[in-house]
Amino acid sequence: MISITKSALIVSLISYVTAILNDQHTYGTLEYSAYDRPGLIDLDILDMIDKMTVEEKIGQMTQINQDLVLNADGKLNRTAVKHYAKNYYVGSYLNQLARDGDNYDSADYAKIIEEIQEITLSVNSTFKIPIIYGLDHIHGAHYVANTTIFPHGINIAASFNPELAYESASITARDTRAAGVQWTFAPVLDIPVSKQWPRVYENYGEDPHLSSILGAAAIRGYQGKYKSDRTKVAACMKHFIAYGAPWSGQDRDSTVVSDRTVNDYFVPGFQAAIDAGVATAMESYIDVNGEPVVSSNKYLQKLLREKMNFEGMLVTDWKEIENLHTTHRVAATHKEAVRMAIADTSIDMSMVPQDVIFFDSMMELVKEGHITIDRIDESVARLLQLKKDVGLLETDGWKANRELQKLTGHKDDVEVALNAARESLTLLKNENNTLPLNRDVKKVLVIGPTGNNFGHLSGGWTIDWQGPTDDHWHGKVNDSQFYEKGISIIRGMQSSAPDGVQVEYMNGFDINGVNDNMDKVIEASKNFDVVVVCIGEHVYSELPGNIHDIRLPQGQIDQVSKLSKSTDIPLITVLLEGRPRVMNTIQDDSDAILLAYLPGPWGGKAIAEVLFGQVNPSGKLPYTYPKYAGDVNLNYWRPISDVWDPLYEFGHGLSYSKFEYSNITYLGQDNKKSMQSLMVGEPEKEIAVHVTNNSPIDGKETVLMYVKQPFRRVTPPAKLLKGFKKVFIPAGETKKVAFTVNAELFKYTGVDDISSDTIDNGPVKVLIGEQEFDFNIVNEFIQSV
Ligand code: BGC
Repeated sequence: MISITKSALIVSLISYVTAILNDQHTYGTLEYSAYDRPGLIDLDILDMIDKMTVEEKIGQMTQINQDLVLNADGKLNRTAVKHYAKNYYVGSYLNQLARDGDNYDSADYAKIIEEIQEITLSVNSTFKIPIIYGLDHIHGAHYVANTTIFPHGINIAASFNPELAYESASITARDTRAAGVQWTFAPVLDIPVSKQWPRVYENYGEDPHLSSILGAAAIRGYQGKYKSDRTKVAACMKHFIAYGAPWSGQDRDSTVVSDRTVNDYFVPGFQAAIDAGVATAMESYIDVNGEPVVSSNKYLQKLLREKMNFEGMLVTDWKEIENLHTTHRVAATHKEAVRMAIADTSIDMSMVPQDVIFFDSMMELVKEGHITIDRIDESVARLLQLKKDVGLLETDGWKANRELQKLTGHKDDVEVALNAARESLTLLKNENNTLPLNRDVKKVLVIGPTGNNFGHLSGGWTIDWQGPTDDHWHGKVNDSQFYEKGISIIRGMQSSAPDGVQVEYMNGFDINGVNDNMDKVIEASKNFDVVVVCIGEHVYSELPGNIHDIRLPQGQIDQVSKLSKSTDIPLITVLLEGRPRVMNTIQDDSDAILLAYLPGPWGGKAIAEVLFGQVNPSGKLPYTYPKYAGDVNLNYWRPISDVWDPLYEFGHGLSYSKFEYSNITYLGQDNKKSMQSLMVGEPEKEIAVHVTNNSPIDGKETVLMYVKQPFRRVTPPAKLLKGFKKVFIPAGETKKVAFTVNAELFKYTGVDDISSDTIDNGPVKVLIGEQEFDFNIVNEFIQSV
């Protein structure tokens, strides 16, 4: 453990400068050299720490929920704020501010938070230290009224476009800051191994490389030069680590996973985030191989701090320290839970969040000598530095910039949300070119529970934690708090329909598949040329989204089947779902299937544009879509030996264009030449393919580059993504798409404690589309297999 002394400052300075010098990363198309990163602890912060009392320091490590100080009617309980400031020196608050369930807008948020700040600053303490406020703004500032809500992470992943991650995060940062909030708990960088897990949609899909590129882009968007730019917020990579692989598929359940899988598949996204300068991190809820992450020295000290070199601020997830006692059952008392988490790890802040039990236990532990002041100082240094970096310690730095409030909901922001939705939509099936709807289609019937609202387009973590519903829980979706900022599928279809095309809506059945007026729908369908069936999942997030069966609700499957049996007209299914729900007969009953994931409230327009052919679909699956209900843990990077029968592969996604790949070359040479060597330690060199758009329709194609090693000491993955580029190719044209390769792309965690840098000798392949290039790895330091 590093104690924060002035000599530690020098160590910190050296590693900071080294990190900057090493920052050569270009993630996707974004150049990343000129961004801020955490690490340096300033002298004035160290001086403050010298003078603060223990109580003040522990207070800085304490984060409480707004419901401790906000009445149900949305009014601030000033006495409560004063109580927590005066007696506990609380350093941070979190969560949504609402009046009778209606979210405040940015001006009212700012007013309440500034009131909390004023009260906090008015109490008698060694220094006037504002609180830092945190919100889960994972797809727009969705807890603040009137802001632009973006598609969820899974859509950004399907777009394979880092610029959309960057732009949506930049706008989210600005809108968050407008509300007087300096910190967002995003991006979400778990690898959703379990497809049943209710948090699949918050993430960037199952591939470590994709998650790395998009996570880094989002962090640049949220943070940028966050130490001087006051339109930016601190980002928070979460949830470290292995959260997306619950053994049972249920949220927060434990996992059993090898160190190799952790290193090779779960670490890269977080490492990329650290390299991109992420200011904060959140640990995960789970036990890994029986070891709760929140008290794990192995994960939070050795791996996160020492190996991965994370120098930012680390917060727990909700109540996690207390959970060591109540849920994980590794601590017999709350006090012991606090001791384990703080003494054994590098946690800086406890999201307590609904009492002050953490503070009380910490005070006792310090008095008893179980937690040292040096350990506390280490965290307080990171916490105060973060506050300083985001501007909170400047004069009036805690006040929101009123000018930013005027930008909320700007039409340019909506265009970014729309583009993100457009680029994410993934055409899974298109039999007989059912789509785009052609000129003969004059009458379109749209049916289904997700076809006429914004709620199902947006999912959980929208307006409310559980999504926009009547009862703020699992009731019927309720669009009132979108304030018309969105376009439902039916409205999108009606406004995008070409002249002379009539579009009508009938609901048919509800989200559980319960019949409403399906007989009438079936009767009416005879007068239409095509039916668009809009189905999917109800809204949810986290634990309450747990399911025990990954199939779509049986009622929906039955209704689609009934419709398909009673009509001959083409049936197009539009799926709005946070995770890949098994479709069963819907797959065969549908002539075309468009997977929209959770494209946000503007998604209806994007869906309509794709159906009418005004936008050529270019989304690709960022996860494997299972065919069978029992296959909940399918990942394309499975060991090559595993049984494999998914419905759709990772990377699948049809276009209205026809793309053909040809002419793979390495350093300009084709594959017929003698086998090329990749020497370990040699720099990257160029590999390229030609991609031709052999169709009359302009389109965007995501070119994916995988690597494959047929034999190595540890059963190899079937293949592993190492590069992607999304390119626009006009009709009839060819583009050369180039990547770089070197032997390091084949690194893995070896056997017998051999490090994560193992590279075996022998033949390997680089795969781009159906094109392959053979290489021979030459590693002079290791024997051939
Ligand atoms: C979630 C986190 C979130 C936190 C605060 C937890 O339940 O796991 O992702 O940031 O709540 O809302």
